[in-house]
Amino acid sequence: MCGIVGYYGKQDQVLDTLVSGLKRLEYRGYDSAGVAIINKDQEFTCIKEVGKIKNLENKINNQNIPEFKGIGIAHTRWATHGVPSVENAHPHSGQDQKIFLVHNGIIENYQEIKDKLTNEGVTFYSQTDTEVLAKLIEFNYTGDLKEAVLKSLEVVQGAYATVVLAKNEPDRLIAVKKGSPMVLGLNGDEYILGSDVSAIISKTREVIYLEDGEMIDINNGQYSVCNLDNQSLDKDIHNIDWDEDAASKEGYEHFLIKEILEQPKVIKDSVRGRLLPDTGDIKFGGLIDVMDKIKEVNRVIILGIGTSFYSAKLGELYFESIANIPAKAEMSPEFRYNDAVIDDKTWVIAISQSGETADTIAGIEEAKRKGALVTGIVNSVGSPIARITDAGVYNQIGPEISVASTKAFTSQATLLLMHAILLGRTRGLGYTQAEELISEIKKLPEYFEKVALLRGETKELASKYINYDNLVYVGRKYNYPIALEGALKIKEVSYVHAEGLSAGEFKHGFIALIDEKMPTIAILTKDSVYDKMVSNVEEIRARNGKIIAIASEGDERVESISEDVIYVPRSTKEEIQPLINNMALQLLAYNFAHGRGLDVDKPRNLAKSVTVE
Ligand code: AGP
Repeated sequence: MCGIVGYYGKQDQVLDTLVSGLKRLEYRGYDSAGVAIINKDQEFTCIKEVGKIKNLENKINNQNIPEFKGIGIAHTRWATHGVPSVENAHPHSGQDQKIFLVHNGIIENYQEIKDKLTNEGVTFYSQTDTEVLAKLIEFNYTGDLKEAVLKSLEVVQGAYATVVLAKNEPDRLIAVKKGSPMVLGLNGDEYILGSDVSAIISKTREVIYLEDGEMIDINNGQYSVCNLDNQSLDKDIHNIDWDEDAASKEGYEHFLIKEILEQPKVIKDSVRGRLLPDTGDIKFGGLIDVMDKIKEVNRVIILGIGTSFYSAKLGELYFESIANIPAKAEMSPEFRYNDAVIDDKTWVIAISQSGETADTIAGIEEAKRKGALVTGIVNSVGSPIARITDAGVYNQIGPEISVASTKAFTSQATLLLMHAILLGRTRGLGYTQAEELISEIKKLPEYFEKVALLRGETKELASKYINYDNLVYVGRKYNYPIALEGALKIKEVSYVHAEGLSAGEFKHGFIALIDEKMPTIAILTKDSVYDKMVSNVEEIRARNGKIIAIASEGDERVESISEDVIYVPRSTKEEIQPLINNMALQLLAYNFAHGRGLDVDKPRNLAKSVTVE
């Protein structure tokens, strides 16, 4: 949530690096954006604009900028305090514009600090908490930026990743992290700071991940790291093995469709080397060190939010049926306050594509405090969740750029299924059952290739229903989480009101809403609850409800009870089928949003990484 870029290095690289870094981070927020650079005569030029980065870029290109130095900061915003406007956009400055900063996070005690500074004669121009931080640092500035930042942070409560410049020290850039992410890229005499590595990879693969309470001071071409007590720290330099092309659209119109259609490939990457069909086992290198603990657990909690929570819901079913262990999916924003019963025999698996979600981080910390083993399933390498968990498994699906999560869901659910097999094999799961599941996991790319062929059909279906404003998704057992995820996906990208329900829950209230204006997307593929689903669908039809069915290839019966049918390939394992069904629903959501002419990759009001509570 909010993207930050900082640059120190070559004059001719400043604006390009800042703007291209912002474009890479735009999925984090896109309400408004801004840059600040220092001119040769030691004044700031600050340019801000509402809306997407291209608006800012146009403004920069149309402006006559005085000659400037090789240092600057930039920000793309997802509003927390104050509406999206030029005044509220970052960078923000101190009273006399001696310092400028960009910030990601929330200053919780901003009102208290603001009141004190107002009494001291400081004037505020925005509604943001960030301006308070800028004004405070300048208030404390007496010629040494590091000193001013350290002094200011003594009174600041909340979360921040911030990069600060001072016009009187035009060869210096300070960055601090607490709660929100920050990475430093090293490229010889150039330094690039970013909220995540995507802002950096075009320049360098060498990075330093900042931990909470750490500060980087880049001064006269040298960098040093210290804690907030000003004690020096030695930091490891990591190498990112990311393919830069993976973060580009590769000819597709949108990231969303690219990410949906690349699932046959990425799921192979996600499971590569981890399936051992000969012995019916699973091998996760990242869990080897905690396997002894895993064998001892008597309960599993799977933590996540949004799409990651819905994959956790599938995981809950997998663990109970395959590993025969009590399991519960927990929604991280609730879990952190719920006094959950956890002990050292509990295995908490945190799910997060970004690895940055604030609520999930808080849940992990709570679980660790209570003595649980906490592992992660995370996509973003080196992200905060990957680093604070005891051990974990990476999705290995490449960057997911579109705000709506698609391939991450598929990989999360598949890896959870594999976690359940891993644990199951230590708790009586037989070779044959494990091997059958493993061989169906291996077939996922084939199934996904077939679903990809439904692109045209889902487009036609979307255009038929494009003017409907209410939809309901129903499924049972393994397809109940898919109903929830299907509804979330279409809501996010199409702004259509959609609800996901268990088909069994339907007649306990929701059915009152059914009429010819509220179509039902029924996940009706062949599985152990198929007959129950058919009965539930009949109940809806009896109230004039239109049914759009997701059905198994060859199931002609479904045609007689549906208005429209999308046929998907059938897996021999009902645990695998929801992943196939979900990809068809992803295509439907994409086509619905695209058909409505919406910005499918950056839906309004959303951000890809939710780094505030
Ligand atoms: C998914 O389409 C959403 N954009 C959102 O629900 C997301 O899954 C959620 O914010 C969790 O993110 P995470 O996986 O990065 O933790």
